[in-house]
Amino acid sequence: MFRTFRLSLRFLLPLLAALFALAYVSMPLIDALTLRWFVRDLDIRSAFVARTLDEQIAELSASKSYARIDALLERAAADERLFALGLCDADHRLVRKTHNFPAAVDCGVRERARPGEGFVLELPRGPLHVSVADVQRDGEHVASLVMLHDMSFVQRRSEDTRKYILWLFTVLGLAVALITVAVAHLSWRGWVAGVRAMLRGEGVIRPFAQPRPELQPLVGDLRALLRDMQNERREHDATTLRWNPEALRRLLKDQFSGDEVILVSNREPYIHVRSAQGIQVQRPASGLVTAVEPVMRACSGTWIAHGGGSADRETADAAGRVRVPPADPAYTLRRIWLSKAEEKGYYYGFANEGLWPLCHIAHVRPVFRSEDWEQYRAVNERFAEAVVEEAHTDDPVVLIQDYHFALLPRMVRERLPRATIITFWHIPWPNPESFGICPWRGEILDGLLGSTILGFHTRFHCNNFLQTVDRFLEARIEYESSTVSFGGHLTQVESYPISIAWPAAENDEPVAAARARIRRALGIDDEQLLGLGVDRLDYTKGIVERMRAVERLFELHPEWLRRFTFVQIAAPSRSSLDEYQRFEAQVRATAAQINARFGDSAWQPIRLLVEHHDADSVRAHYRACDVCLVTSLHDGMNLVAKEFIAARDDERGTLILSQFAGASRELHEALIVNPYHIEQVAEALHRALAMPASEQRERMASLRQLVREFNVYRWAGRMLLDAARLRRRERIAARIGEHSEAA
Ligand code: F6P
Repeated sequence: MFRTFRLSLRFLLPLLAALFALAYVSMPLIDALTLRWFVRDLDIRSAFVARTLDEQIAELSASKSYARIDALLERAAADERLFALGLCDADHRLVRKTHNFPAAVDCGVRERARPGEGFVLELPRGPLHVSVADVQRDGEHVASLVMLHDMSFVQRRSEDTRKYILWLFTVLGLAVALITVAVAHLSWRGWVAGVRAMLRGEGVIRPFAQPRPELQPLVGDLRALLRDMQNERREHDATTLRWNPEALRRLLKDQFSGDEVILVSNREPYIHVRSAQGIQVQRPASGLVTAVEPVMRACSGTWIAHGGGSADRETADAAGRVRVPPADPAYTLRRIWLSKAEEKGYYYGFANEGLWPLCHIAHVRPVFRSEDWEQYRAVNERFAEAVVEEAHTDDPVVLIQDYHFALLPRMVRERLPRATIITFWHIPWPNPESFGICPWRGEILDGLLGSTILGFHTRFHCNNFLQTVDRFLEARIEYESSTVSFGGHLTQVESYPISIAWPAAENDEPVAAARARIRRALGIDDEQLLGLGVDRLDYTKGIVERMRAVERLFELHPEWLRRFTFVQIAAPSRSSLDEYQRFEAQVRATAAQINARFGDSAWQPIRLLVEHHDADSVRAHYRACDVCLVTSLHDGMNLVAKEFIAARDDERGTLILSQFAGASRELHEALIVNPYHIEQVAEALHRALAMPASEQRERMASLRQLVREFNVYRWAGRMLLDAARLRRRERIAARIGEHSEAA
């Protein structure tokens, strides 16, 4: 209220000044006007007095009854207003007068007073109204009656009038002020509510709830302004910053003033396993872990994940906490222990038999079971509790990873309403028809919309998500700014293509040495060209199609027989699921069949390595090969493509990349293929193997520049910057709200 009053003062003070100036200027005018009215009044009164007296005076004059004339005049002058009367004879001499007739007045006043119209005579005692009337007898002028009315009452009244006018204007001014403040306050609140809604993305975006009519013309402009400012800022931040661990740390410090970071994923970054050599630390074959781990090393904080290693418990403290990386601790890993039943229902069942095939178009039918769903919900609850346990403040930054935790954002939001929740969905998001198959689609969408920011790799997946929300929820969606307002909370849905750390590794062995060493290990001669695939054994990766393309290459271009070998590194994955066992069998059978067809005891065209390879070994293979094949049937991003590029500091080697992997939207210098089109992939392989060194260099240099710049620090940084902006926006909106409530 005080704020509104202060704002209103800017308008009120000039208004009140104008009112008082008007009052001041109007006083003489009002005086003149009232004087004219009083003079007119006294003229009429004088005419009346004259009519009452003239006959008697005429007769008394004729009979020379002067004493009676005097008495008559004195009686008449006893009237409150009539001050004095005088009588002038025909020769204009003042012959009779009341006792108080002023000496300064004589019969000369006849000259100034016209019949029926008196005038005001200023005397030292005060103003007098002077009027003169003819006294006639038988139509003949016998005398003039001079009537003097006291006008001091006019002055008194004029003073009274001034006083009243002053009061009137004062009261008027106060009333105007009060009304102005009230109206301004109400409009301010309305505006505030409207602008607040716009800041939150509400009101302006719902077709059924239009913004206030007076805001309507401004809505477009305000939104455009906000968007321009955001975009400018975004572009500025994105282009001017060199993204590296230090930039990320600085960003956290500046934008979040050191707020704590809590990351949640199913897969843990360091797995302790018991082996014959004692407890060993393994790094999982996971794009998610590859990307996110360097970010966590830069940000510190706590990473909450399922502790699935056989020696995980004995290497953690009683609360499941262990500092990692083991060699150089930078953050805390908090392990969550899951029972066999929980892991079966939540991870294998709902996440990997339900959501995984649902979101990937790989023609494997999703399976949804109620008991899996119950476990999924219960495990999400357990992780939500863990987030609360690990949070030291009520507004931590919570980074939730992937489809294992679709319900977690809402659960965290309910427990920590002030938290900044950034959820990243690492796999594709299908179209509404496909997603509609899920019996718990509403709950999943609701869960995800607890996030502050919901990220996907590509704009295409963002749009699929928005359309799915549109189809199944009563939410307000603004496509232009890519926001969803649901249950009074705003979620930004944005694309953030994930990437890898840059530089990826230091002290690599030279490429020539790696080439020789790997070939030796594979038992092939130095001249052989090498093709490479690196994947988890997953039906979405297009491994069978890739091997069929190698087979087709030998059919179409037999000159490559014995000159080209294809190595497939296949990390076992989710192997307790039937679908994955069937797939592994199919991969093994395909490799065996092609090897039987083209190979012999001295040379096998396909080398299938179904085993875990550590990061160094994979990197050596990237450096040793001539062509890397990424032929996913459907993939959110695929980081193998980017890792291969990062490993090739010699600017050699060619990447064949599926058009159905998110990476193909960025890596245009790769040979882009449709993995279902076997001949096309075979021809791409032929072209890659025959590609001149200069072309390889040109393509690889450009790809490396892109991955260097669009690295994983930028991925995390952009999300954090957007979250910081949203956080500020929410806080400004809340502050506007507080003021309007306090007002
Ligand atoms: O693509 C989704 C994803 O979570 C990846 O980030 C990761 O490479 C893979 O799945 C890991 O799968 P899992 O943890 O089931 O072995």
